[in-house]
This record gives sequence, structure tokens and C-alpha cells, in this order.
Amino acid sequence: MAKRVLSGVKPSAEMMHIGNWFGAVRQFVELQETEENYIFIADFHALTTVHDAAQLRAQAREIALEYLACGLDPARTVLWRQSDVPEVCELTWLLCCAVPMPLLERAHAFKAAKSDGAEVNMGLFTYPVLMAADILLYRSDIVPVGEDQLQHVEMTRDMAQKFNLMVGREVLKLPVARVVEGVERVPGIDGQKMSKSYGNTIGLFETDSAIRKKAMRIVTDSTPLGQPLDPETCTVFALHKLFGGPATDELRARYLAGDVGYGEAKKLLVPRILEGLAPIRERYEELRGEPDYLEDVLNDGAARARQVAAETLAACREATGFADPVTVRG
Ligand code: ADP
Ligand code: TRP
Repeated sequence: MAKRVLSGVKPSAEMMHIGNWFGAVRQFVELQETEENYIFIADFHALTTVHDAAQLRAQAREIALEYLACGLDPARTVLWRQSDVPEVCELTWLLCCAVPMPLLERAHAFKAAKSDGAEVNMGLFTYPVLMAADILLYRSDIVPVGEDQLQHVEMTRDMAQKFNLMVGREVLKLPVARVVEGVERVPGIDGQKMSKSYGNTIGLFETDSAIRKKAMRIVTDSTPLGQPLDPETCTVFALHKLFGGPATDELRARYLAGDVGYGEAKKLLVPRILEGLAPIRERYEELRGEPDYLEDVLNDGAARARQVAAETLAACREATGFADPVTVRG
């Protein structure tokens, strides 16, 4: 039977890059073929750090649009904005009352913010509880995450157990984390891991000329033309490899034979990126012209997510000693 797989995506100020696509998003999109796919935009989580309303809304819409461009099919994936399902905040409170504070004090993100001397608001401190509520509200079986989020899923399991213990029955279902083992780490143009934090990304939706310029700036060593090049250590080649196929094999042979220089390898990379990602990039442009469609998808997703949320929350309220809200509010 299909499992329910839930992913939360925090909107950010920068667009998705090719590391995100090959390392994570592509796998999320593939899941809709076989699993019950639930994906939401974690805009309440973003509020822990972004306090500009217009920016927050714009970022949430942008990331939703990017996911649709990447191939999420709203008929097969439930896609919604976290803030459109307020039940998640009520479950957060119920969990807060079952969870000891030291559990949250162990969170890596909180400890890092505190040691940086940053002001830690209660939202940041409670971040893992809201995340647990996201996961538990939808009775998720599997949560695919990067290594950095593994602790949060483990904490979610602890919180579900604490809650179940508090109410004396198994109301909340324990999820399992699945570490996304995508393609190996995609390097950025400076050779480090491609990451928004390093300013070394190639954005999925940048203009052709911006992509060309970035490709030509990829850092390489200074092996002179005519000498063999090592495909295993070369950033340009690592990016070629993402697109695979005979063109990559041919280029590998030319590297080893000393029959190609870095400049040419970079020039050859540009059309591979542009052609390899053309369907996604074209869909992105189309969707940008249809803002109403995006809003309809998100509203429909919220309605579907809310049905599941309401059922779980009713069971949690009832188990905690509060009446079923449906009965009370009529
Ligand atoms: P960033 O480092 O740019 O902020 P995120 O932390 O938002 O990226 O990552 C979102 C997802 O994309 C994660 O699942 C992460 O594992 C994946 N990802 C990010 N960068 C890369 C990369 N360079 N190579 C492979 N996967 C990546
Ligand atoms: N904390 C996650 C991140 O920063 C985003 C997130 C919020 C999430 N809620 C979630 C991920 C629930 C998986 C499940 O990337």
C-alpha cells in the first residue's frame, strides 16, 4: 500500500538551485508516482526569521511555483501553505504541554542560534514542536529529509510518544525519517557544496546569460591545454555528469586523453544545463503568467490537507479532555 510521504519546504529569499533539484526536489517529485505525496510550504516556520509580510508572502508563492514548475502534479500531490491550515498551531500547543523543555534545549538549531548571540524568539525555540505538529497532524509515514533535519524528525517521534503517554493511548502515529540520498553532493561554481549560504549556486530559473556567465566562472586548476585532466576531481565535469548520457562518456574520454581544455568543457556545459532543464524552465515561465492558477492549486491543497488535519486534531482534543470541536462549534 502507498505510504504517506510528507515534505516541508521552507521558503527562502533565493530561488532553487541545481543542487536542490538533483539532490532533493527531483526525488520528491518522483515520489508522486508511487506514494501519497504531501508537500507544504513552511511559511509559519519562515516567520521565525522573516518579519516582512510582503516578503514572506512573495517567498511562499515563489517556492510553490518552483515546485509546480519542477513537475509536481496537483492531482497527485497535495500542495499547500502551512499557514492555510491553522489546526497545526492548535496541535503545537497540545504538544507543548506534553513535551519537557530540555528536549527542545537540545535542538542543534536553537543551540547554534544561542551560541551566535542571536536573539532567540519563542518561535525559534518552539520550531521543532511546530515541525512535529506538521508531521503528526497529517499522520505521515515517511519524512524525507537532509541530514540537517534528521534530529527534528527524531524529536518528532519523542514528542508523539510523550503525547501518547500523557493521554494514555496511541493517538499519534510515529513517523520514520528517510535521509534523502540523491545524487552525490552537487558542487557549486567554487568547488564547495552548492549552497545558498556560499553564494556559489547556479539557479534553476536564472536567465540563459546568467547561467552562461556562471558556468564560465567555475573554478578549475591550472593544468595547461593539451595535458590530461582528471574527471573525478573537476567541478566542470561533476556538473556534466549530472546530465549523464553518451556526451558525458565522450567528454570523460577527452579529459583522459588531454584532448579538451577547461574553457571548452565549460562552453559545452552551458547547452547541457539549458537543454537538460528546458522543460522545467519553460513551465516556470508559463506558470508565472498564471497567478490565479497557483492560488487555486494552493487553496485546493489546503482544503484537502485540512480534512486530514481536522480528523487528527479532533482525536487529539478528545484524548486531551476537550470536546470534539465539530460538536462544540456546530
Ligand atoms: P542550501 O544549502 O542551498 O540552503 P537547503 O539546505 O535549502 O539548500 O537544501 C534543500 C534540499 O536540497 C536538501 O534536501 C539538501 O539535501 C538538498 N541540497 C542542497 N544543496 C545540495 C547540493 N549541493 N547537492 C545535493 N543536494 C543538495
Ligand atoms: N525545518 C525544515 C527545513 O528547514 C522545514 C520543515 C518544516 C519540514 N516542517 C517540516 C520538513 C515537516 C519536513 C517535515 O528544511
